[in-house]
Amino acid sequence: MNIAIIGTGNVGGALATNWSKKGHTINLGVQDESNFKGQELLKNENTNVFSIKDAVAKSDVILIATQPTAIFEIMEQMGDVSEKIIIDATNAVMKTPEPYKTVYHALQDKTKAEIVKCFNTTGFENMLNPIYDGVAIDMFMAGNSEKAKSVAKQLALDCGFGTCIDFGKSDKVELLEKFALSWINLAIMQGQGRNIAFKVLRR
Ligand SMILES: NC(=O)c1ccc[n+]([C@@H]2O[C@H](COP(=O)([O-])OP(=O)(O)OC[C@H]3O[C@@H](n4cnc5c(N)ncnc54)[C@H](OP(=O)(O)O)[C@@H]3O)[C@@H](O)[C@H]2O)c1
Repeated sequence: MNIAIIGTGNVGGALATNWSKKGHTINLGVQDESNFKGQELLKNENTNVFSIKDAVAKSDVILIATQPTAIFEIMEQMGDVSEKIIIDATNAVMKTPEPYKTVYHALQDKTKAEIVKCFNTTGFENMLNPIYDGVAIDMFMAGNSEKAKSVAKQLALDCGFGTCIDFGKSDKVELLEKFALSWINLAIMQGQGRNIAFKVLRR
């Protein structure tokens, strides 16, 4: 796939690295190409840096991995995203993108893209390496677009996650952010550390 990554920090960098290893073409979309802080990412295969507009134009799939409040600026710069897949990996932990509760809801209201919330529920280290003692942890997703969900699931499998569990439609997007907060609570507030992960077990 051709994937635009907007937000090339912890999460965007981890997923860019993992997906490039699986042969995907990575188009990093940044505010200022001449002052790009993620030069290391350009050592990855099939990876180049562009303006946000050009990265989006070259891609079928767009990952948003910035602070949630940046979404308004990003929506202005992305250009036409009709029918493109947008994966929202953000969490409104510190600030919500007012008047919307989540970035997913802002994108749903303001674009005609196929949107899915995914890659938000665990730490970026787990997105780089989702294997614990030989066991693959789970990723989770929510949203109304089945098309976007099938792409997100494939990209989660490509990262090495065991599966990508469907949390439900757009009414479950906020729950998925709360689930992310549960990971943050355990890892950081309760001091369990960042090398922890969730997996659904069955019997
Ligand atoms: N950290 C985690 O483990 C984790 C896990 C799951 C979800 N999340 C969520 O993922 C999002 C990103 O977290 P992170 O830890 O990856 O943050 P981060 O390391 O601070 O990276 C944020 C990135 O967004 C870029 N950015 C900021 N404003 C932008 C704009 N207007 N246009 C384009 N790019 C912009 C920054 O570029 P500059 O550096 O050039 O400003 C930076 O590359 C957050 O919403 C967070 O809640 C984080």
